[in-house]
Amino acid sequence: MSGDGRERSSERIARDIETLSGADYTLSTDAIRRYAYTSVYRNTLDYFTRALQELGFEVNEDPVGTLIARNRPSGEPAFGVGSHCDSNRNGGRYDGTMGVVTALEVCRLSAELGLDLPLQLISFLEEEGSGFGQMLLGSRIMAQRVTEEELKESFTALDDGRSFWDHALEAGYEPGRWRESIHVLDGLTGWIEMHIEQARVLQDTGNRIGVVTAIAGYIHADVVVEGRADHAGATPMDFRLDPGLVLAECVIELERLARAAGKGTVGTVGEIEVHPSLINAIPERIRFSLDIRGVDEDAFRGVARDIAAFAEEAARRRAMTAHYRERQTLSATPLDERIVGALETAATVTGEPFMLMPSGAAHDTMCVADHVPSAMVFVPCRDGISHSPLEDADPEDAALAAEIILAAIRSLQP
Ligand code: HGY
Ligand code: MN
Ligand code: MN
Repeated sequence: MSGDGRERSSERIARDIETLSGADYTLSTDAIRRYAYTSVYRNTLDYFTRALQELGFEVNEDPVGTLIARNRPSGEPAFGVGSHCDSNRNGGRYDGTMGVVTALEVCRLSAELGLDLPLQLISFLEEEGSGFGQMLLGSRIMAQRVTEEELKESFTALDDGRSFWDHALEAGYEPGRWRESIHVLDGLTGWIEMHIEQARVLQDTGNRIGVVTAIAGYIHADVVVEGRADHAGATPMDFRLDPGLVLAECVIELERLARAAGKGTVGTVGEIEVHPSLINAIPERIRFSLDIRGVDEDAFRGVARDIAAFAEEAARRRAMTAHYRERQTLSATPLDERIVGALETAATVTGEPFMLMPSGAAHDTMCVADHVPSAMVFVPCRDGISHSPLEDADPEDAALAAEIILAAIRSLQP
């Protein structure tokens, strides 16, 4: 595509991102915060709906609110593009949203250049888990990787503790039909998701594009340590049952286990909930989260197994109890070689620097890949900052990604 074509794409992408960073599209003035069944999320879906309808796409939503736009009758072959437009609770402008905007730009380019490629855009509900603490919820529902019991009972809103099911009903959706969501993938001949890298490899190696070859698997879990809420001043050190000590040992042990496992395995304690969380009370109970990931299945699952055993033993040693409960898990996902090859060829033609790389972050593509040949394209984000309002990325890189994705889809047409 000529320079001014890419320039036009970059301007449209920048305008969309700027608009979707406005007050109507986020619950917070300090960060981008939007998630399922909130007014600002509804506004975001409506923004994409209008833009896609202007291109002649038919726009629908699946039974729980994943957005689907097609320029062919349902069931007919089409190539899938998209990502998610919800955000982390302390999110930036680009995570997810830039992927949906770039998918929209692919749809615009196909129409503008008279290619009329058969396309289906998907924007998945609740990728971040900001509403219900369940990452990739919309795409896991589509891939039938949840149970009805979880949707009705155990998946509850962080804001009010009510079930996902009730919130979906209240928002006007039909969660009882959630199993039908898998048919959104019917007829898809392939899928490409564009996303910011969320680390700094592309930036530090001078590459503008990452062609993703595999996505790390992950385990999300919680450990609850039961202690005793004694007085912080009156209780001698030998008389305490302080769960904070078990937490401290576990955080250090998790680092040791992840480093020892190697192969890119990582472990993070991101949430720590202390009850009653008072300066002068020894905690009665501490819940902490575990986010353990890696491209080597045995390595990261071994870390999860070992840290769970360690936590129970560390608690027992101090006459307390610790319970490990898995929240969810997805396996490491290799991506489709044919689509990766088409993206590689398209990137080479542009003459711009690119590299093949794995994804440490999870993406909805992990669920799509169960059913449809899938791949991903990364663009750099400044200093690798993400899941932060400081996140920054360049619309010109997204425009280049749109050009590469369009060329790859054209080359994959039967
Ligand atoms: O955390 C993740 O991997 C994704 O950004 N939600
Ligand atoms: Mn994301
Ligand atoms: Mn994210």
